[in-house]
Amino acid sequence: MGSGYSIGGVVFGQLFKARSFTSAYKGPTIPDHVDLTGKVFLVTGASSGLGKMLVIELTKRGADVHLISRTMDKLQKVKAEAETQAKAEGKKSGNLSCHSLDMSDMSAVCKFVADFPKDKAIHCLVNNAGALPYEREMVSGGRLEKTTACHVVGPYLLIKGLHAQLKLGNGRVINNASAGLYGAQMDVAALKDGFKTYVKKDNKVDGALVYAVCKRAMLEMSDFLADCYSEDGTVIMTNHPGWCETEGLKPLLDQHAGYGSITFRDPRDGMMGMYYLCVAPEVDTSYSGKFYFDGKAVEKHQMFTSTSSSDRSVNEMIAFCEKFNKLPAGSDGN
Ligand SMILES: NC(=O)c1ccc[n+]([C@@H]2O[C@H](COP(=O)([O-])OP(=O)(O)OC[C@H]3O[C@@H](n4cnc5c(N)ncnc54)[C@H](OP(=O)(O)O)[C@@H]3O)[C@@H](O)[C@H]2O)c1
Repeated sequence: MGSGYSIGGVVFGQLFKARSFTSAYKGPTIPDHVDLTGKVFLVTGASSGLGKMLVIELTKRGADVHLISRTMDKLQKVKAEAETQAKAEGKKSGNLSCHSLDMSDMSAVCKFVADFPKDKAIHCLVNNAGALPYEREMVSGGRLEKTTACHVVGPYLLIKGLHAQLKLGNGRVINNASAGLYGAQMDVAALKDGFKTYVKKDNKVDGALVYAVCKRAMLEMSDFLADCYSEDGTVIMTNHPGWCETEGLKPLLDQHAGYGSITFRDPRDGMMGMYYLCVAPEVDTSYSGKFYFDGKAVEKHQMFTSTSSSDRSVNEMIAFCEKFNKLPAGSDGN
């Protein structure tokens, strides 16, 4: 068993009971006058759940939105739905474009970055794609575990690769993590060896624990880059959406029948905190390097837990992410 702190399912059970994580959104709202015409947003995981909800709200404000996920037909449906909703409310949509991209395929992520116009300002990148598999799957030529790829290395490559365009737009980055990270320490050895020591039997892992370790690493990665870019106007934040009734939660609920009695948040409530960080006029560089829930900065560690990381392990994690940076298409990070 790996050394990621906590015992995944049990910790999620405790965290689920935090009532604020399942209640309606109580954070700040966006004034009606905020108009996003001409502003460029990239949203990964845009084909369902929280990402879809976010696209719908951005579209109503006139933003140009790049919708990203693996499934083009689902993205096209979200695009049509967002445009229809905006029209029904008498709002003018901006340009919505759909991109099929697997965030666990590092060479595809590098290609996406390389193809993105260099002179086009990005106002906000939302790293929201995610999954919670209970079976270990290696990607990028067996060099990288899938949860790590989707939640840590892929988002890192997007931020690094699109930094010039983010800088042009005084851009914001929102990395959508999870309250699950409160129950986990970053286990850099596991990130590097693909969670090999977490495998129990038949390639099965405690998916909740692997996910929590990756989301903790996402927060560390986000804070590291917030520090790197602190002088150039790029704002890098990490968010957690509480617990919301989406497809993404299903694998966890399938494993723990007891959670079935919990009433989760409506996905729109879970999305609102991200939406606020994306568009609120008051968000500036002082927001960078913090962890948010419902638009408010919250603690990164809970009391009596040993979930902090040493500088050395953060540097080691970043060096690991860098191994996959600027991979030519079809290569695997060797
Ligand atoms: N729901 C919750 O309670 C909760 C709690 C904490 C954190 N979160 C986080 O919120 C984010 C959104 O989750 P959700 O709850 O909205 O779940 P969801 O409805 O399952 O959405 C997940 C999205 O990620 C995309 N995705 C999954 N794997 C991908 C890959 N390899 N490459 C590209 N896109 C991929 C999916 O699109 P395709 O299948 O089309 O690729 C989908 O659009 C995730 O990062 C999740 O960890 C959710």
